[in-house]
Amino acid sequence: MDFNAVEFKSKIKSVVISEEEIKRKIREVGRWISDEYKDKPLLIISILKGSFVFASDLIRAIDIPCEVAFMVAKSYSGSTSCGEVKISLDVEQDLSKYHVIIAEDIIDTGRTLSLVVEKLKERNPLSLKVITLLDKPDRRVVKMDADISLFTIPDLFIIGYGLDYNDAYRNLPYVAEYDEGA
Ligand code: IMP
Ligand code: MG
Repeated sequence: MDFNAVEFKSKIKSVVISEEEIKRKIREVGRWISDEYKDKPLLIISILKGSFVFASDLIRAIDIPCEVAFMVAKSYSGSTSCGEVKISLDVEQDLSKYHVIIAEDIIDTGRTLSLVVEKLKERNPLSLKVITLLDKPDRRVVKMDADISLFTIPDLFIIGYGLDYNDAYRNLPYVAEYDEGA
């Protein structure tokens, strides 16, 4: 990580999605979840690290009871298209007792999330939905559609609101394009 503040700012090319736009969409999705999952045992799974900011705002837009769990997953794509996923932090809840919503930061190639979904389905959740903050459909390598995608974006390298470049920039309150040339 670079600790120079001037350099840090110079790499933020432009704001792609403002704090206000993010807030507005999250309020909408929060209302939808609160209505749809009323009287149902709900578990929100945040895929770390990227989705922790999104998930923390999303749960506060929900006004029904819910539990939160975290998962760290990394995918390794070898020569086969399916690849493998290593889960280094797992959900403790018995999924067969919950309606599950996966909160993801971004779907890019779709590799990581498709493998995570496959693994979670094996544990027989009452239902399983994927809500992603960002979707880059142009980059998809495996079939993976979110049930709800808050924003569809072009193929740019994105930072902020949880998303990183070399583990920096997660703290920006908006989504920005990273300047790879500067
Ligand atoms: P996928 O498996 O290729 O769909 O992407 C998995 C992960 O790559 C995401 O959860 C992000 O952490 C990361 N990622 C993909 N695109 C970007 C980006 O534009 N900026 C920052 N991280 C990204
Ligand atoms: Mg990342």
